[in-house]
Amino acid sequence: MTNPSNPPATGSNSNRVIIFDTTLRDGEQSPGATMTFEEKLEVADLLDAMGVDVIEAGFPIASDGDFEAVSAIAKRVKRASVAGLARAAIKDIDRCGEAVRHAVRPRIHTFISTSPLHMKYKLQKDPEEVLAMITAQCSRARNLVEDVEWSAEDGTRTEIDFLCRAVELAIKAGATTINIPDTVGYTVPEEYERIFRTVRERVPNSDKAIFSVHCHNDLGLAVANTLAGLNGGARQIECTINGIGERAGNAALEEVIMALRTRADVMPYVNNIETGMLTRASRLVSAVTSFPVQYNKAIVGRNAFAHESGIHQDGMLKNAQTYEIMTPESVGVSKTSLVMGKHSGRNAFRSKLKELGYELGENALQDAFNRFKDLADRKKIIYDEDIEALVDDEIGHAGERIKVEALTVIAGTMGPQMATLTLDIEGNHVTKQAVGNGPVDAIFNAIHALVPHTATLELYQVHAVTQGTDAQAEVSVRLSEAGKSVTAKGADPDTMVASARAYIAALNKLMVKRQKTKPEAMSGGATA
Ligand code: KIV
Ligand code: ZN
Repeated sequence: MTNPSNPPATGSNSNRVIIFDTTLRDGEQSPGATMTFEEKLEVADLLDAMGVDVIEAGFPIASDGDFEAVSAIAKRVKRASVAGLARAAIKDIDRCGEAVRHAVRPRIHTFISTSPLHMKYKLQKDPEEVLAMITAQCSRARNLVEDVEWSAEDGTRTEIDFLCRAVELAIKAGATTINIPDTVGYTVPEEYERIFRTVRERVPNSDKAIFSVHCHNDLGLAVANTLAGLNGGARQIECTINGIGERAGNAALEEVIMALRTRADVMPYVNNIETGMLTRASRLVSAVTSFPVQYNKAIVGRNAFAHESGIHQDGMLKNAQTYEIMTPESVGVSKTSLVMGKHSGRNAFRSKLKELGYELGENALQDAFNRFKDLADRKKIIYDEDIEALVDDEIGHAGERIKVEALTVIAGTMGPQMATLTLDIEGNHVTKQAVGNGPVDAIFNAIHALVPHTATLELYQVHAVTQGTDAQAEVSVRLSEAGKSVTAKGADPDTMVASARAYIAALNKLMVKRQKTKPEAMSGGATA
């Protein structure tokens, strides 16, 4: 038997709030947000260093890939509890227990639906059967670890009397954390607060467990509901970096944390998060998932601390507090900026990366530096955004099986537009010439000819990283196959090269995804 999680909060009397991050589980369930094994380890390390209390590392029964990732994270994480998710089935719970067992603080998070709708249509079980399953799932989990979380899926659409009976049984059978998720993002703050108050008041053994919030953002209320849950007595927050997650996502960790910090006067809750690492975490998760962070996103968006209008700029110059309720430094955005150019050396480049929140290994640093030098030869002014795009591109493309080796494009009014593309497919160099209805179409046709695949292109988007005609282009491509989709980015001063890189990155991701769900699909070489 292992140690239980060591949350200092034992109920709603303490103001210490446990931060439970589910970027690697609910976040990774976002359509297109697949992460590789190495990327998951990198994210877990950062979450641990940032002070997250519980890292939900995945859903071990879902695939061998998920199991391996949860188990590797459990072995390496030093401080945080490591949780795995399990349905109410013995084999799920045992597999989860196996995956987390090497963690310093292992947790099994097991769930079942409790709303009338889910019980009838999804589970096809009557309420009494579900209650029996709750007892069975919690006691099975508690036989494996001391730290057991139980979730009432679709909790906010569950009849309150039934929810209270379910919670009482879960605690009796060994659950130490009770999560009442707003699975479909349906609740509103007042109602969510009331649910927690009622359950805690009515359930006789409620003082034996910590209550947890888990909110989805379908109505844009995830953060507001999360904070309301705390007022109702919850003391664990489930959230994700950048708010990624199923459908419209989960409550964004950075938003919840900065709301708590900035308005501590009305929400006197404490947590362990090192807020200076929030921007870095956001950038890392955006880079590994290829999910762009919207410019006006609270806390970590590019414009979150930018002031454009004359009146605001004037106020800022007189006193920053006129228009800033938090300092950029408090979330890890540094104001002092090194100016980079073609004369900058490796050390300056390394410092700049650090300032921007990146820490690369020696090989990745050298590759990124080579690309930076190349860019500096082609572009007069190198902005921070250029370096971010370049490094994100480098991280996103590391370890790929297929790489863009060379590309020549003929475009213009005299069609047909033509692309000659050379790919490196696991060390084999293959070239194809193709025509198309425009240069991008020609490139994608060449890719199709070299790497036959059935995936369809769902999104092709170009944006200029900075201003000016020599700006780098950042291209996003989303491919979908058999109901699964992946998004990937490519960056280069040449929009056509960026397009080819983005498409190839998406194909690489699709192959990783297929390998996770259907390993046999990978035996036919690189063909996607
Ligand atoms: O949204 C949800 O209900 C979940 C549970 C598995 C906790 O993610
Ligand atoms: Zn969820």
